[in-house]
Amino acid sequence: MPLSLPMDIVVVDETSESRNRARLAILELANMISVPMSLNAVVRLNVADAIWSAGSNAPLSASQILSKVLPDKPYADADNLQRILRTLTSYGVFDEHLVSGSSGSATVERKYSLTEIGKTLVTDADGLSYGAYVLQHHQEALMKAWPLVHSAVVDPTTEPFVRANGEPAYAFYGKNDEMNGLMQKAMAGVSVPFMRAVLGGGYDGFGGRVQRLVDVGGSAGDCLRMILRQFKNIKEGINFDLPEVVAKAPPISGVTHVGGDMFKSIPSGDAIFMKWVLTTWTDDECKLIMKNCLKALPVGGKLIVCEPMLPDHSDDSHRTRALLEGDIFVMTIYRAKGKHRTEDEYRQLGHSSGFPHFRAVHIDYFYSILEFQK
Ligand SMILES: C[S@@+](CC[C@H](N)C(=O)[O-])C[C@H]1O[C@@H](n2cnc3c(N)ncnc32)[C@H](O)[C@@H]1O
Repeated sequence: MPLSLPMDIVVVDETSESRNRARLAILELANMISVPMSLNAVVRLNVADAIWSAGSNAPLSASQILSKVLPDKPYADADNLQRILRTLTSYGVFDEHLVSGSSGSATVERKYSLTEIGKTLVTDADGLSYGAYVLQHHQEALMKAWPLVHSAVVDPTTEPFVRANGEPAYAFYGKNDEMNGLMQKAMAGVSVPFMRAVLGGGYDGFGGRVQRLVDVGGSAGDCLRMILRQFKNIKEGINFDLPEVVAKAPPISGVTHVGGDMFKSIPSGDAIFMKWVLTTWTDDECKLIMKNCLKALPVGGKLIVCEPMLPDHSDDSHRTRALLEGDIFVMTIYRAKGKHRTEDEYRQLGHSSGFPHFRAVHIDYFYSILEFQK
């Protein structure tokens, strides 16, 4: 008997409202790459700083933006920039202002200011913004891994990034000064505002008897610098990361940069902080890191972890989407079996690594604070 294609059997009524919506939704999904790539373009073009202009945030047209960011390029295409700005307006990065032309002319000019989301791309006094994170994610080596996401399903023993570039991401960054530097800037750009929210939001886990605090995978040491500034009980901070990473870290008062490998051993401390590290590793690797933390802590000492934590249910909220999308990023770039975990999965990781006590603190929508106590 000849095989029939499903569409031959089920005659789909394409005139229905639900099919109309479905056709729209699948085209939106299929073209979704335009959104992060447009974001990447406005970061490269430094659009946010041009609009912000020392806090004015006055609406500017695409050609006014171009005259600020590319003053030497009179042929730069304002129409194309406007197409990008319109798309990102739809995703809440810019506000669009329609300004009527002078003396009754029918033309309407489009001008753009920054929304609260757009302001995250403005460079602060320390040279930081979320822009570096956008650029870091869209470097060529990372982009080469994305068409290979399916290979993490077919064979999870080799990460898409490794298939595309021949070696794991951290080893790859370590050999390239520019990538290493951008990674540190990206981490600082995201972690500094998070730490401000946590420390300003009343989290007190670094207080009490903590005198020596170790930050495992601390990158340039920005989190430690902020914690030490607020918690005067801490006399000594140890910023522990890969040797090539700490070699680039700037001097910070009260902080010693120590290079090493957390899979081998971790410097001892009264408390250990670890942000955005466990996510990129498999369960077995996390247990190894956590057991090394356990060895480095006194009885009663805390391992304070900040990680994105997945909700139990899948829904279409911004939070769930941001967390699920980050999960696919980890699978593609770092470890095919590294992952964003649920609260329960973290509790279990803690128990199987030997930590008897666990507490989750929720201040930020993206990262949760997880305390494992010895
Ligand atoms: C996602 S980044 C997080 C950086 C920083 N904690 C933050 O949240 O801004 C992960 C960090 O782990 C570090 N790392 C990776 N492998 C490591 C290892 N074997 N030993 C120590 N640190 C490592 C990386 O160099 C990087 O700085």
